[in-house]
Amino acid sequence: MCGIVGFCGKNNCADLLIEGLKKLEYRGYDSAGIALEVKNKITVLKAVGQVKNLENLVKKSGKNSYIGIAHTRWATHGKPSLVNSHPHTDCTGNIALVHNGIIENYLELKNILIRKGHKFKSETDTEVIAHLLEEELKKEKDFFNAFQKTTRKLKGAFALVALSSKFPGVMVAAKRQSPLVAGISKKGFFLASDIPAFLSHTNKAIFFEDGDTIKITQDSIEVYDADFHKTTRKIHTISWDISAAEKGGFEHFMLKEIHDEPQNVKDTLQTLPPDITKAFGLPLKEAKRIEGLYIVACGTAYHAALVARYVIEHFAKIPVEVEMASEFKYRPIHFKKNWLFVAVSQSGETADTLAALKNAKAHGLKILSVCNVIGSAIVRESDYSVFTHCGPEISVASTKAFTCQLTVLYALALQLAYVQNSITKAEFEDLYQEFLNLPELLKQTLKLESAVKKVAKKVYKSPSFIFIGRNASFPLALEGALKLKEISYKHAEGFAAGEIKHGPIAIIDKGIPVVALAPKSSLYEKMISSCQEVSARGARVIFVTNTPSKNALEVPYTNEYLFPLLAATILQFYAYFIANFLGREIDKPRNLAKSVTVE
Ligand code: F6R
Repeated sequence: MCGIVGFCGKNNCADLLIEGLKKLEYRGYDSAGIALEVKNKITVLKAVGQVKNLENLVKKSGKNSYIGIAHTRWATHGKPSLVNSHPHTDCTGNIALVHNGIIENYLELKNILIRKGHKFKSETDTEVIAHLLEEELKKEKDFFNAFQKTTRKLKGAFALVALSSKFPGVMVAAKRQSPLVAGISKKGFFLASDIPAFLSHTNKAIFFEDGDTIKITQDSIEVYDADFHKTTRKIHTISWDISAAEKGGFEHFMLKEIHDEPQNVKDTLQTLPPDITKAFGLPLKEAKRIEGLYIVACGTAYHAALVARYVIEHFAKIPVEVEMASEFKYRPIHFKKNWLFVAVSQSGETADTLAALKNAKAHGLKILSVCNVIGSAIVRESDYSVFTHCGPEISVASTKAFTCQLTVLYALALQLAYVQNSITKAEFEDLYQEFLNLPELLKQTLKLESAVKKVAKKVYKSPSFIFIGRNASFPLALEGALKLKEISYKHAEGFAAGEIKHGPIAIIDKGIPVVALAPKSSLYEKMISSCQEVSARGARVIFVTNTPSKNALEVPYTNEYLFPLLAATILQFYAYFIANFLGREIDKPRNLAKSVTVE
């Protein structure tokens, strides 16, 4: 999705804005642009393709300023082109504006503005806002008031930042459903779609509420709520280390982020309270009275939720319903009393998850979120939150966030199991001990990297890839297939191993690689049978297990419910190396955006 960076302060900012855009490249984009206020005029520069192209243009122009806005565009309305890229301007060229989100009533507004004589240059919904602001400024002398009135006329989702050469030194912004965060530094104020854009300059951040409008000058930041009343928003200190947003010598962010997993899981475990049976995410009273859970998420986070269903139902013995957020929000769900709604999201900004959460909240459910970003929209809407501590995830394909989500959800399962008396104290202590050993076991699992690479080399030319598993490893099969699809663009599918014979076996053909996820468990023999079924039809079985077995990728032994946390890294390596052998753009796969902030 689009990336926004704005700066207003005491320093020249062209470099800061370009650097910020580079840090947001992971969000996916097709063009980039910048607007600088130079000598009471707005200079707009745009380039199709990479931020590097824009950087060269800016350098060549020699333009600089202490106030400016920049943008990476991910096309929604109108094809990727120079004219459609942001910033957009009004008829006079005095106003420049960048936008992330979708303006639902843009056509209606555009027609009104055309009738009033406005001339449009692009096909975008965003340009309408620049002209609307121009129109408002004909009636209203104050830039910020006119901007606030403009936002009132917009329907849809947006993060907006605007400048006007008629009001030098003022940057105005608004947030409704799309992410926008301010960075407070000694150099000045940043506005951005995500923290990495300014993390190398400051770790002090303000997250805005939906409906907020913001006015920034060199020395001040003012925030107004949805009713335009002046308000204050908390300044958060971000604990992320800037090195987490760097590649650190790895060829790709994805590979680095897989290697980060032992440390990230360690950090996540270290933030658990000393006794999770007394307090963890939920107050004890709440944890005791819960009769069931709805866990809702999208994509990889949805797969983490599916794994958690098996773990929670096994240990805590309470029912769990898991649903994709994009479906959950439309179902006429008859919410059950004393059920808890759990939202799982790396970014905390996913529009589908947020909408499902709001639906559950409107029906009186208590909300627990499992998120990676403090202050994000999902966290702000939740009654309780637990954080994954994996720092910024830059690679579009989620890896370390998945493992940390599984870690938090496993801890939740153990907490609920204990407080609901589904396991004894002694059982809890044994399980917890094994759980705390996870970072060490993950480190050992990473040693399988070159073995996985060898396997990937043998199979990467296959047109199709299959993953099978049972119980808690079935959702892991889905995740393995998703990861591979995302970054290799190859057909990949995950199946419940027991389901293969009910139809999918028809696609098993000579040489098709089938990854079988088979931890030692009561279902182990059944997994072996499934492998025999597919290998009898010519499949090349790649056996992932935690018990000695010939020609297998063997991760360290744990109980079968912890197995997905270790085997996930094997599947992530597998997807990574296949995509790399195919020469794909691993960190920024085609058509994908990191944070999906539109429904
Ligand atoms: C896959 C991936 C996506 C996200 C999904 C939810 O690699 O990254 O499927 O998991 O868009 O995003 P969050 O977790 O930010 O809500």
